[in-house]
Amino acid sequence: MAKKGEGMRAARKRLEQLRQEINFHNYRYHVVDSPVVSDYEFDMLLRELQELEQEYPDLITSDSPSQRAGAGLSERFTRVQHPAPILSLGNAFNGEEVRAWYQRILKLNQRVSNSEFVVEPKLDGLTVVLHYENGIFILGSTRGDGEFGEDITANLRTVNSLPLQIPVDQKSNLQAPNRLVVRGEALIMRSDFDEMNKRLLEAGERTYVNPRNTASGTLRQLNPAATAAKPISLLCYSIIATDGQMPSTQWEALHYLKELGFPITDGVSLSEDIESAIHAGDAWVERRDALPFEVDGVVLKINDLNLFQELGVVGKDPRGAVALKFPAQIVTTMLQDIGLNVGRTGVVTPYAILEPVIVGGVTVRKATLHNFDFIAEKDIRVGDRVEIKRAGDVIPYVIGPVEAVRDGSEKAYVIPEKCPFCDQKLEQFPGEVAIYCVNAACPVQLVRNIEHFASRGAMDIEGLGIKIAEQLVEQGLVKDVADLYSLTKEDFLSLEGFADKKAENLVLSIQTSRNRDLRRLVAALGIRGVGEVVANDLAGNFNELEKLATATITELEALEGIGPNIAQAIVDWFAQPSNKIILKKLNAVGPWETSQIDAEAEVEQTLSGLTFVITGTLSSMKRSEAKALIERYGGKVTGSVSKSTNYLVAGESPGSKLDKAKSLGVEVLDEPNLIALLEQNRTE
Ligand code: IVH
Repeated sequence: MAKKGEGMRAARKRLEQLRQEINFHNYRYHVVDSPVVSDYEFDMLLRELQELEQEYPDLITSDSPSQRAGAGLSERFTRVQHPAPILSLGNAFNGEEVRAWYQRILKLNQRVSNSEFVVEPKLDGLTVVLHYENGIFILGSTRGDGEFGEDITANLRTVNSLPLQIPVDQKSNLQAPNRLVVRGEALIMRSDFDEMNKRLLEAGERTYVNPRNTASGTLRQLNPAATAAKPISLLCYSIIATDGQMPSTQWEALHYLKELGFPITDGVSLSEDIESAIHAGDAWVERRDALPFEVDGVVLKINDLNLFQELGVVGKDPRGAVALKFPAQIVTTMLQDIGLNVGRTGVVTPYAILEPVIVGGVTVRKATLHNFDFIAEKDIRVGDRVEIKRAGDVIPYVIGPVEAVRDGSEKAYVIPEKCPFCDQKLEQFPGEVAIYCVNAACPVQLVRNIEHFASRGAMDIEGLGIKIAEQLVEQGLVKDVADLYSLTKEDFLSLEGFADKKAENLVLSIQTSRNRDLRRLVAALGIRGVGEVVANDLAGNFNELEKLATATITELEALEGIGPNIAQAIVDWFAQPSNKIILKKLNAVGPWETSQIDAEAEVEQTLSGLTFVITGTLSSMKRSEAKALIERYGGKVTGSVSKSTNYLVAGESPGSKLDKAKSLGVEVLDEPNLIALLEQNRTE
C-alpha cells in the first residue's frame, strides 16, 4: 500500500511537470510560432504524459494537454467554429507500432482485414480549413483547438495556389457543391524558402530559420500584404464537410479535390494491405531529403471513408488513420561544453559536447561546430540549448542556439590561446581562418601522425590504429613516427591488451613496412597538401628521400600539380629540426626503393565491373579512403543502393541504406569482409 502511494505521488509530480512543459511548448509552437524543442521531442513528452495518465486514470485533469487538440488561440483573430472537429493523428514511430494500431482497429471492426490504405506524406506546415460556398472561397481558418480556429481569410486569399473559385477549370463539366469545406496544409517549398533567405541575406536582412514556422507566422499576422510577399504554398488532403455527394474513399476524395483544382501532393499511393502500406511508408524515408517540401512522416489512412467514420475517434485522433513518424533529424539539447580536437596538421577545431540525445535513431553526444568563426557568427554559448541535425550518414552538426530559452547563465565562448594537449601557444596564419598548434611534439598530433603513417595508403602497417598509437604515445614509447621501427615485442607487451601473439604480429607488420617504396613513405610523412598523388610525383621525380629533402621551391614548383603552397609546405617540413631527426632515423631504416609511379598499372583490376556503396562509420579508414581503395582495384563506388549494387559496405550506424540493401538482396560486407576482399586482390 505504501508503495502504491509512493508511486502515485511520484506520478503526480511527473504529470505536473509534463503538463507544464507541454503547455509551454504548445504555446511556443501554436501561439508564438517559435518552438524551442523539435516535434519529435514534443511527441515524446506527450506520449509519456498519455502513458502515465493511462496508468493513473484518476490523475487525469480536464485541463491536461492530453485532453485537447492543438493549443491556444490568439486573440488577434476572429474565432471560427469548424463544421466538424478538426482532428489530429495518433503517432507510430516504427512498423511495429503501426501493426499494433492495425491490430487494435481490427479487433473493433473485422472489415479492417479487407481494407486498403492510402499512404500520404505528412506535410510539415500549418493546417488550414477552407470554406467554399457556391464555388467561391469565402472563409479560411487555422485549426486552433480543433473546435474553433482563427479567421485568416485575408491572408489566405494571397496564397497563389489556393483556388478562389472552384472548379478552377471553368470549362470542366464538374459542378461545385453548394457547400464544401476542405482541409489542407499551408507550407513553404524548400526551394522558395532558400531563395527567399538568399534575397534577405543579400539585402542584409535577418533570414528565417525554418519553413514551417515562417509559413505559420506569416499566415498568423495581421497584414495580408506581408503574407502576399511570402511564397506560401498549399496542399489539400481531405473534405471536412459538403452538402454534395461525399466520395466513398480517400483515394477518390483526393482525385475529386484535384479535379476541382485543389493542389494535392504527388506520390500518394494506394496499398492493398497493411504490410505493403508500411513498405510504401518506409520508401518515403529514402525520398525525404529529395522532396520539394518538408515532411515529418507519412500518414496511413483507411481508404473506405465509411469504415473510417465507423471506427470513430479516440480522444482527438481518428482511429482510421495513423502517422508513421520519421526518425527526427533535428533535435535540441544542452551544449554542456566545447571541446577541442587537434588534427594531424595541427589544426585545432572545436566540437560540441552535448547532453546525450537520440537523433535519427542513434544517441549523439558530440557534434561538430565547424570552426571558431562559426561559434562567433551564431553566438553559440556554453549552456545554450542548441539545435543539432543529423541527416542520413552525415556526422551530426550544431545548427545554432535557441536564443529564446536563455536564462542568462550561458557563457560566451572564448577562443583558447593554448593547445589543451601540450599547453603551447596556438597560432593563426595570415589569411587563414584555422587556428594551429604548431608544436611538432604535441602528443595529440603525434598520435594522429602515427595513425596516418600506418594507414593503408601510406605505410600500411596492419593492426596499428589510433588506439595503439595513443597507448604508444601515452607510455612514451615513441616520440616520432620513425621510433616505430625500434619497437620490440617487449615494448608492446608492456601495453594493456597485448599478449605474445599480438605483440609479435605488430612488430612483424612494422618491420614488413620497411619494404614499402618511397612513394608510400612520402605520403606517410603527412606533409600538408601531399597525398598519394603528389607523393607519387615527388617520389618519381626525386628518387631518393635525401634529394627530396633538399629540393628548392623552384625545383618543386617545376613539377606539374605542385603549386606554391604545397612547394612551401614541403620545404618547411624538411626544414623543421624535429623532422630532420625523423629523416635521419628513417634513412637508417631505409632503403625506401623507388618503384614505378603509375599506381593504377601496378594493381590488377580485380574489382572491375563491381559496384559498391559505402555507408556508416568505418573504424580503420575514412569512407573516402575505402572509396579510393575500391577504385584502385577497378571497382565503382556510388551513393545510393539499387538493384545494380553488388556490395554494400556497412560500417557502424549504417542507417537506411542497410535496410534498402537487405530488401533488394544486395550482399552486405562489414569492414573485415571488405578488407579481406581487398587483401585477396592484392598483388604485392
Ligand atoms: S489527416 C482525420 N493527412 O498532421 C485526419 N494530416 O499530427 C487527420 N498533416 O496537424 C489528419 N499532412 O494537419 C492528414 N496528409 C495528411 C497530413 C496531415 C500533414 C497534419 C495535420 C495535423 C497533423 C497531425
